[in-house]
Amino acid sequence: MLRDGLLNEDRDIPAVCFVCLGNICRSPTGEGVMQHLLAERGLETQVLVDSAGTAAYHVGQHADARSRAHALARGVKLLSRARRFERDDFRRFDYVLAMDESNYQDLLASSRGEFDHKIFLFLDFDPQSCAGSNVPDPYYGGDGGFEHVLDLIFAGCTGLIDHLVAQHQLRSTL
Ligand code: 4NP
Repeated sequence: MLRDGLLNEDRDIPAVCFVCLGNICRSPTGEGVMQHLLAERGLETQVLVDSAGTAAYHVGQHADARSRAHALARGVKLLSRARRFERDDFRRFDYVLAMDESNYQDLLASSRGEFDHKIFLFLDFDPQSCAGSNVPDPYYGGDGGFEHVLDLIFAGCTGLIDHLVAQHQLRSTL
């Protein structure tokens, strides 16, 4: 059962942050696909979208070239630069979306009990995914892994947008 997001007090739109390990494959894809699907529904000004990684290996880098190429083939541009998730991000974001169980556990450890209510396993927003499903790390694999990541992320973002529309009275500009 998903919990309702609690909005930050100084902002009237929900803020979501996709989080993976390196912030060069899965979470930048989440950020780009989310913005793409929000724009298709006229909701791009209604949700603040960002991404980050739990590790600092790739800070400052563009998304992985393979992630960018596979996303672009579906009309999605990945423009972000990698950054590390900071504890202060828990104050800025209402939904901190872990791509896999390892990211989820790392975020829980960083929260130290204070922000646990903001941490979600991303695919729990996809009604077609089994509870506890992960977006697998494609970094050391082949093209099929990147396509699978995109399939999962499109599904998860669609469910997430449906959830946000229902919970936060989002208004379409279409
Ligand atoms: P991501 O993928 O967590 O989806 O960005 C990875 C990227 C880089 C590494 C691991 C995962 N790495 O070990 O460098």
